[in-house]
Amino acid sequence: MSADDDKYPGESGRRRFVKGVVGGAALAGVGATGSAAVNSLTTSPGAGGGATEAMAIENTAGPAPRGMPQVPIEIQSDGTIKGVWPEVTQQTVQGRTIDVAEMELGGKTYSSEWYQFCGVETYEGIQPSYESDNVFYIGESPGFEWQSEFDAGTAMNIDMFENYETWGNGVGVDGLGKPGTGNWRSQDTEDTIPINVLRSPVIEQLAANGEAQAPDQDEPYTVTDDVQTWLQASTSQGVMAWLNKCTHFCCVPGFKAEGGAKFNASNEVYCPCHQSVYEPFSIVPTLFTARPRPDG
Ligand code: FES
Repeated sequence: MSADDDKYPGESGRRRFVKGVVGGAALAGVGATGSAAVNSLTTSPGAGGGATEAMAIENTAGPAPRGMPQVPIEIQSDGTIKGVWPEVTQQTVQGRTIDVAEMELGGKTYSSEWYQFCGVETYEGIQPSYESDNVFYIGESPGFEWQSEFDAGTAMNIDMFENYETWGNGVGVDGLGKPGTGNWRSQDTEDTIPINVLRSPVIEQLAANGEAQAPDQDEPYTVTDDVQTWLQASTSQGVMAWLNKCTHFCCVPGFKAEGGAKFNASNEVYCPCHQSVYEPFSIVPTLFTARPRPDG
């Protein structure tokens, strides 16, 4: 199957999507009885793939089958924001030696498999040993107006997000955080891995206290102890990131996107293709079947 096969399918795509949902439900059943029993490295052909549990921003409405996976971040001493890429090790699986990028982080097993869907599994940057500085860079057509003052290829920096506690774009309420789009592990290759960064006081409070008051709802946002531990490891100074590929048919959604209001998504991440909605302040473990990389 080529990288484009699950993008914007035509008439026959609907059937494949429905099958995918049934598969997802069956997989969820597996998870209920203990996903630890599933060996995610035994699926062939290709390298890696199989049942994978990623930490994701929750899908709350629309046809998307699950949330979009988070990219854990770190901030360098000069303020540059980069994604964490696990250390690469070699493992022998069914007689073959393959590269595996996998690590324990914040109580979770974080691996390159989190991003193996929507054709991304074929991208060079998703190969465990692809050489990259892992920095997030602003792309050719950034998703937010404030980014247009920066040239494509500018490294994303915490300084760009200084007004994160008050930022707004006229959609929904102000003060939920400041977003920016970029790409990751995509230099020297034509495949662009799109990411969305969000620096938010809500994420900052959730990581520090497990709950956060926010201007878009009366009730505080809350996370479990497990998720709080994960946020402490995967975010920094309120900065989080996710792979910005809709899990439905792979469009690029937007935080506080124009058009989301009609679907009650002014303060969420909204995909304009078929109206899927994601809640960046609800981080959930998400079990799905990662696609194998084509070789390895
Ligand atoms: S809702 Fe269909 S691609 Fe996003």
